[in-house]
Amino acid sequence: MAALITPRNTTEAYSDHLVRDFTEVKKGYYQDHFTRSQAAIEHAITGLSGTAIIMGSGACQDLPLEKIARQFHRVILMDIDTRYTRQATEKLPADLRGRVEIIQADLTGYFEELKERVDAIKNRNPSFAVFRSEVVNMLPSLTKKEPPYKGLKASFVCSSLVSSQLTSGLLTYIQSVSQETYKQDFIPKSKKNQACDNWLVQCQLDHLRELSSLVEPEGRVYFADHFSVKQVVQVTSKIGTDEIDLEKSSPILGAEKIQKYLSELFSKESEETWTWSLPLQIVPAQATVTHDDGTVEQIPATATHLRQYEITSLSLKKI
Ligand SMILES: C[S@@+](CC[C@H](N)C(=O)[O-])C[C@H]1O[C@@H](n2cnc3c(N)ncnc32)[C@H](O)[C@@H]1O
Repeated sequence: MAALITPRNTTEAYSDHLVRDFTEVKKGYYQDHFTRSQAAIEHAITGLSGTAIIMGSGACQDLPLEKIARQFHRVILMDIDTRYTRQATEKLPADLRGRVEIIQADLTGYFEELKERVDAIKNRNPSFAVFRSEVVNMLPSLTKKEPPYKGLKASFVCSSLVSSQLTSGLLTYIQSVSQETYKQDFIPKSKKNQACDNWLVQCQLDHLRELSSLVEPEGRVYFADHFSVKQVVQVTSKIGTDEIDLEKSSPILGAEKIQKYLSELFSKESEETWTWSLPLQIVPAQATVTHDDGTVEQIPATATHLRQYEITSLSLKKI
């Protein structure tokens, strides 16, 4: 089935709205990912006990939280925004809640100072070009704040879909100031900035080093994130569903370096990959059907624009 697709009008905000939509309709988009992720983590904790540290715990949807809390006496959940983590732990059986500690922590260690210094640059009212170059030059001079979990050790350390979020969180703050003040993208997609990119990748490498320093020698690290992403469109009509790639899969910033550093820090016990498709936009479209007799018909269809993340999930031992 070939398809004619209504032009795209995709915004991140609309995509986020769809992702946060927890109705039955949208559940299908994440359920497969949650199931696979929970199974992979359940496998990764086999035979471990003692303390578990969960980095970027969020709403704990990727995690088999109850199983983790049954198996480990101490479960430390960390996130920069602990609201959803708190809600998730409230759903645990009462006898397990005492095992769980929630720590509010910025895993990058840069957020506070970055905000202050970006605001200070903006408040001097420079032109956009000066704002951008001062912010980019300032990034490498930020001092990493000592994390509240320094000195902790755990037999299980988990980072599930967090690493890439650390840098997007920092960039989102700069981007919001840039948009509000100058109505401009801080770094437009077409204009790469190597210095900024290098700093963002370094933040992710620091995160990997932290995972390694938190885990006990005989313990295990679970790491999952996407290393590549592409946009596809699914056209659904009365005769079925067709999936069309809108672009080639492209690696995320620093994918190669991150994979290389992972292999330097850890040995791999197991690896799984799966695709997580997140809806960006759902719009009416038309599908073109060619019948057996050669006649062509246009029929109504729905085009769902999806961002497809290729998730890699790794169960790791420290080298
Ligand atoms: C995609 S979610 C992870 C999902 C989570 N593993 C789950 O099971 O639902 C990414 C999480 O990273 C957190 N995060 C982003 N930047 C952070 C930072 N600088 N420090 C700590 N947590 C951060 C977000 O608040 C969010 O909860």
